[in-house]
Amino acid sequence: MATYPPPEDFAKRAHVQGMEACRALYDRAKERPEEFWGELAEQELFWFEKWSHVLEWNPPFAKWFAGGKINASYNCLDRHLTTPRKNKAALIWEGEPGDQRILTYQELYRLVCRFANVLKARGFQAGDRAIIYMPMIPELPVAMLACARLGITHSVVFGGFSAEALKARIQDLSAGVVITADGGWRRGKEVKLKPAVDEALADCPSVRDVIVHRRTGSDTPMQAGRDWWWHELEQNASETCPAEPLDSEHPLFVLYTSGTTGKPKGIQHATGGYLLQITATMKWVFDLKEEDTYWCTADIGWVTGHSYIVYGPLAAGATSLMYEGAPDTPQPDRFWRIIEKYRVNIFYTSPTAIRAFIRQGDQWPNRHDMSSLRLLGSVGEPINPSAWEWYYKVIGKERCPIVDTWWQTETGSILISPMPGAVPAKPGSATLPLPGIVPDVVDLNGNPVGVDREGFLIIRRPWPCMLRTLCGDPKRYEENYWSRIPGNYLTGDAARRDADGYYWILGRVDDVMNVSGHRLSTMELESALVRHPAVAEAAVVGKPHEITGQAVCAFVTLKRGDWNHDELGEDLRKWVAHEIGGFAKPEQIRFTDSLPKTRSGKIMRRLLREIVTSNTVAGDVTTLEDLGVLTALASQQDEE
Ligand code: WT7
Repeated sequence: MATYPPPEDFAKRAHVQGMEACRALYDRAKERPEEFWGELAEQELFWFEKWSHVLEWNPPFAKWFAGGKINASYNCLDRHLTTPRKNKAALIWEGEPGDQRILTYQELYRLVCRFANVLKARGFQAGDRAIIYMPMIPELPVAMLACARLGITHSVVFGGFSAEALKARIQDLSAGVVITADGGWRRGKEVKLKPAVDEALADCPSVRDVIVHRRTGSDTPMQAGRDWWWHELEQNASETCPAEPLDSEHPLFVLYTSGTTGKPKGIQHATGGYLLQITATMKWVFDLKEEDTYWCTADIGWVTGHSYIVYGPLAAGATSLMYEGAPDTPQPDRFWRIIEKYRVNIFYTSPTAIRAFIRQGDQWPNRHDMSSLRLLGSVGEPINPSAWEWYYKVIGKERCPIVDTWWQTETGSILISPMPGAVPAKPGSATLPLPGIVPDVVDLNGNPVGVDREGFLIIRRPWPCMLRTLCGDPKRYEENYWSRIPGNYLTGDAARRDADGYYWILGRVDDVMNVSGHRLSTMELESALVRHPAVAEAAVVGKPHEITGQAVCAFVTLKRGDWNHDELGEDLRKWVAHEIGGFAKPEQIRFTDSLPKTRSGKIMRRLLREIVTSNTVAGDVTTLEDLGVLTALASQQDEE
C-alpha cells in the first residue's frame, strides 16, 4: 500500500517536524496529561483568572480548568487587537451572488460588541439560551460571538432544517431568543428562513424575541412586539461591550445531532477546554501560519463550522474564509475560483464534495491557478483511497499533504489525524491519534481486538474538548457513551488499527447513517415517516452511494387504502423534508407488504441493508416487495 511521506519543503517549515517531534508530544501528553494541557492552556489562551485544577474527572463527567475564568469571544477578538492582527482579515466572506466582505479583527470586534449590546438591551444575559438559524453570512459568527461574549449559550440550527426540526430544538433548549435572517442564497435562489421561524414559534412559549438580519431584502412579515430588525435595534448600540469572565465550564454551545432514537441529542460543550483543543489542532493539524488564508467549506450549522470556521481559526488569529452558497453555482468551478481569487493556502472539505468534483471532471479545477494551496483536509466520512489520490494529484498537484481528520460533534475537535509535517499518510486512514488522545479498538467486552482486526472505536481518557453532557439529559449521556464499555467513551464507529498503529475508520455501527457527511438517524427518519397518515411502518437503512457515501433508503408498509405508489413516494419524500429538512429526503422509498422481523418483533435492518447493498430483491420505487420469504429465512439465523 502506498504511503505518502510529508513533502520535504512542507516538513521543514511545519509546526511539528518529523515523527520524532510528533511522538515526543504524544508521549508527554500521555504520561503527564494535566501538565501538558495546563501548560498549553497558559500558552494558547487568555484567562481572566487561572484555574485551580486542570482536570476533575468524576466519570463520566469531566471538568477542565475548573475555577478558571475565560471568555471565548475575548479569546477570538479582543486579545488580537493589541497585536499586529488588529487590522488583519479575520473573515473573508463571499456571498453566492458574488458580493464580498472582508472583516478585520477590529471590525469584527465592533460588530460583535454592537450586537452583544443589542442582546443585552433586550434583557438577555449569561445563562440564557439563543437559537441561531441563519444563512452562511458574517452575521452568523457575529451572533455566535456576541452570545459567547455575554455567556448566552447558543445553538445554531443548520438552515436546511425544517420548521418542525427547528421547533423541537427551540423547545428542548427553552431558548429565549431566535436570531435569524429573511433568507440566504443557494443555487441562485432565495432560501427563506423567517417563514420557518414563524411556523416553529406557534408552539414555543419560551421565545420572547426574534431578531432578523436583512440579507436578501425579500418581503418578510414581522410580528409586532416579537420580531425586530437587526439593523434597527443596532442603530444606537454602543461599539464596546465588555466580555463576561465566565467559568471555564460555562456551556458555550449546544449542537443537536442525530442519535439512535427518534429524538436528537443536544451535545453540550464547555468553554475553556473546548477553546484550548481547537486552538491546538489549528497548529497540529492545519499547521496554521500567520500569513495563511484558511478555508473550511462546511456549514456553520454543523460542528465543523463551529470549531474550524469560527472558534478555532479566530482564537488562533487566522484569516478564515466563508462562502455562502453552493459549490456548483454559477458553474462547477466555484470553489476553485475562490481558491484562486483569494489565494487560499489551506483547504478543508468533505469526501462527498471531492467525489462530486471528480464526477464533474478535471477541466474545472485545471482551469484555475491553485498554486497557493499548501495543505488539504478532509472530514465527515471515510475518504476512499481513489478519491484521496485524486484530491492529492488534481487539487494538490502532489505538493500538498492531506489531513484526513476523524472526529465527531461530541468530540468537539479533531482527535485522529496526521500532523502534516510529521506523519506519512496512507490514503483512507485517518492515521494516528493527536496528543492527549488515547483511543483503542475493542470487542463488546472491552478487550482490545489486536492488529488489523475490526472492532469498536473507543477513547480511553477524557479530553479537554469533549462534550460535557446531553442538554437536560445526563442519564442518556452516560448510557449512550460511557456505559457499554464502562469508563470508556464509545464513539459508535467501527475501526481497525494496523501494525503501524494507524486507524482505519470503517463507519458507524449504530443506527446512524452518514449521508454527505451529515449525520442522520434511522429512528428519526422512521418516526418522521410513520407520522404520515398513509404509513403503517417504516424501516430506514443506508444504501452505499457513489457520491454521498450513503443514501437513505426507506422501506414502508402502508395502511389500508388505494394508494398510487408513484405519487405517494414523492409525497413521502416531501414529508420527510417537511419533518426534518430537505437534506434528509430518502433517495428511495420502497413499498412492501411486510417488514422482515425477528420473532420477537424487531425489524431486521441488517437484512434490509443487504437487500439495498446487493440488490438481491430488484427494487424500483413502485413495486411492492414481498419480503416474507426472506424474512422467514433470516429470522431463524437472527434468533440463534
Ligand atoms: C461521524 C461524526 C466531525 C465532523 C463532521 C461529522 C464520521 C467523521 C471522519 C473521517 C471516517 C469520519 C464518523 C463519525 N467521520 N470524520 N475522517 N473518517 N469517518 O460530525 O455529524 O458528528 O459525525 O462522522 O462516522 O462518527 P458528526
